[in-house]
Amino acid sequence: MPDFSLSAEQESLRDMARKFARTEMAPHAAECDKAARFPDEIYRKAYELGLMNLNVPTEYGGSGLGVLEQCLIVEELAHACGGMTTSVIANCLALEPIILGGTPEQKERFLTPFCAQYHFASFCLTEPAGGSDAGSLKTRARKDGDHYLLDGEKCFITNAPHASLYTVFATVDPDLRYKGITAFVVPRETEGLTTGKDEEKMGHRASSTSTVRFEGVRVPVVDRLGGEGDGFSIAMRTLDQTRTPIGALATGIAQAALDHAAAYSLKRHSFGKPISEHQAIQIKLANMAQSIHAARLLTWHAAWTIDHGSKGTLESSIAKCFASDAALHVADEAIQTFGGYGYMKEYPVEKLLRDAKLTQIYEGANEIQRTVIARELLRQYA
Ligand code: CAA
Repeated sequence: MPDFSLSAEQESLRDMARKFARTEMAPHAAECDKAARFPDEIYRKAYELGLMNLNVPTEYGGSGLGVLEQCLIVEELAHACGGMTTSVIANCLALEPIILGGTPEQKERFLTPFCAQYHFASFCLTEPAGGSDAGSLKTRARKDGDHYLLDGEKCFITNAPHASLYTVFATVDPDLRYKGITAFVVPRETEGLTTGKDEEKMGHRASSTSTVRFEGVRVPVVDRLGGEGDGFSIAMRTLDQTRTPIGALATGIAQAALDHAAAYSLKRHSFGKPISEHQAIQIKLANMAQSIHAARLLTWHAAWTIDHGSKGTLESSIAKCFASDAALHVADEAIQTFGGYGYMKEYPVEKLLRDAKLTQIYEGANEIQRTVIARELLRQYA
């Protein structure tokens, strides 16, 4: 069984992330949310502290952290702002295909210069028609001598307008479905690559999201990750690694909601006493605390499983799905605790509900997580 007592190094990573989140991120969270502002200066500081390329091995200039350490950091950041956290950790998602599928030469060529400076990368899998059905993607990769020509469109791509590197999934033959999917690394300056307008989002408004178009984008064969047809497995194995930190992100949002609700309940009086003395409120707070504790333990367990060499497909889907459902419910209960004030933008909890919602959708909608969980489960009974 896992032992979740944290080492001194893990404690100090968590403290560093907490300090950064509370002093640099939290004071700007409401303003960035209101204006949908991408706070470049905060992200630059996150990079300087080593918070942006958490999963990249140190030999290539990253922080070289395990999934549990990533989760400790991500929960702290998300407590301050879910949207900023999404942008800070998007490099982990975008670079994981190179870590998993790249040759040592490709890792050196792409990861080392990327990590040496403040850069963003984007993970380009989702398409307008395919959505959750990643195996049906239509972006084409046509072989042309020692290059491929990429044509197609991706949507909902985190940080795309700011990225200097894109990991792109395209098919060499759509009739082959997932067996034709192939992964490529495409630098921003490649001719024919354009990004769309920043999407106007309900939450995570400090993060940037857009489409990415590929029109005759020439990619050298040497920039293909793995062989033709290896892309779907690379994408799925990437998501196995990155869904657990989304569980941590959701847990951070939920913890912030509970912290606001509990503090408010001690100050706010009704019927002649603080509302914290009403059983109705105590039951809410107790249920919120239980959900958060369970979400954190499931997330840590998934992280521990992966850090100990397992794929963690089942555990990461359980953690992501449970924690994000919990975050939405806890944020909702925090608003209810605040009553009418909770519905007002002047108070912090309505943002948490909007931010929590996306955690149920991105990195695989929770319906997909339940599909994965059921498949993994049924395999044990077959
Ligand atoms: N690891 C390795 N291989 C895997 C795998 C995994 N976790 N899961 C599936 N595979 C393999 C299967 O073994 C199978 O290979 P074989 O035939 O050789 O055995 C192959 O992949 C096809 O598997 P399925 O039959 O299960 O494929 P499917 O078409 O039914 O789809 C799915 C499976 C799990 C539903 C998948 O489509 C999926 O995960 N969809 C969601 C995609 C997603 O998460 N998108 C979010 C993108 S990131 C984002 O949100 C943007 C952002 O910027 C934050």
